[in-house]
Amino acid sequence: MPLVEPKEMFDAAYAGRYAVGAFNVNNMEIVQGIMRAASGEKSPVILQVSAGALKYAGLPYIMKLVKAAISEDSAVPVVVHLDHGLGFDMCRDCIDGGFTSVMIDGSHLPYEENVALTQKVVEYAHGKNIWVEAELGKLAGIEEHVQSAGHLYTDPDQAVDFVRKTGCDSLAVAIGTSHGAYKFKGEEKLDFERLETIRGKLPEYPLVLHGASSVPQDFVALCNKYGGKVGGAKGVPEDMLRKAVTMGVCKINVDTDIRLALTASIRQFMAEQPEQFDPRSYMTPAREAVKNMVTHKIRDVLGSSGKA
Ligand code: G3H
Ligand code: 13P
Ligand code: ZN
Repeated sequence: MPLVEPKEMFDAAYAGRYAVGAFNVNNMEIVQGIMRAASGEKSPVILQVSAGALKYAGLPYIMKLVKAAISEDSAVPVVVHLDHGLGFDMCRDCIDGGFTSVMIDGSHLPYEENVALTQKVVEYAHGKNIWVEAELGKLAGIEEHVQSAGHLYTDPDQAVDFVRKTGCDSLAVAIGTSHGAYKFKGEEKLDFERLETIRGKLPEYPLVLHGASSVPQDFVALCNKYGGKVGGAKGVPEDMLRKAVTMGVCKINVDTDIRLALTASIRQFMAEQPEQFDPRSYMTPAREAVKNMVTHKIRDVLGSSGKA
């Protein structure tokens, strides 16, 4: 199956009350781990590429990896998506480079500037039939270009105005999630009332949840057991994600859990087999750890198994 644009994927997810996982990719093993999970589960999947990933791997390499992945497995629909596009030029380069979906992240800008930037990207992208995700509100945590000390939750009426003015195809909303491994200091809480209000004002419109890693404590424990220092890490509990999915969130972003799965596996391997130095020896179980984590996510949290 060639790379697809997300419309059909999201329509089906909304109708079937499941979500499509958008997993961040940075190298071959991560792409393979995610694709093997999606294939095994017969699930649609989004491979997403951040500005940091573009800097690390380079756009041509990432595209070749994605193309290799879809030619190896032609059975599941795959979207390749720019995650947190920094500006118009980056979105244009990714669209011209073969991405089927881009996110323009103007969430750090004043409202009217976010509107204007998103409009500009939408105009270019729609001319080429490419999907545009935008963001309104701010997630706490650190992104490549945005360092936000606190949340600024998405205002439901502003969300309606934003979608109408910009014509963006999907919207990332801020309801209390955040990027990275340290999402909550105390009790985990999401603003479901706000999500419900946004849902009501934008019926059937594709909503996206960023910062949706669960930070599995077994990965954290393994990292720490084998020399890591990942103290006080906390993610979004899986039942909260399932609830968001039943409320019609149709794209769930996961990066941190991939990093934790991979790093826990490598740390354990290095500690237990210190004589090994062939990268294939530790990258093989690390890739398997990514596959197992993504399989669990697809099967038990997103509900997208068998939907390809
Ligand atoms: O939303 C942020 C993603 O986890 C990407 O992170 O910019 O370090 O690649 P990155
Ligand atoms: P996590 O840090 O929770 O994995 O979020 C990733 C994300 O939102 C990528 O856009
Ligand atoms: Zn994000």
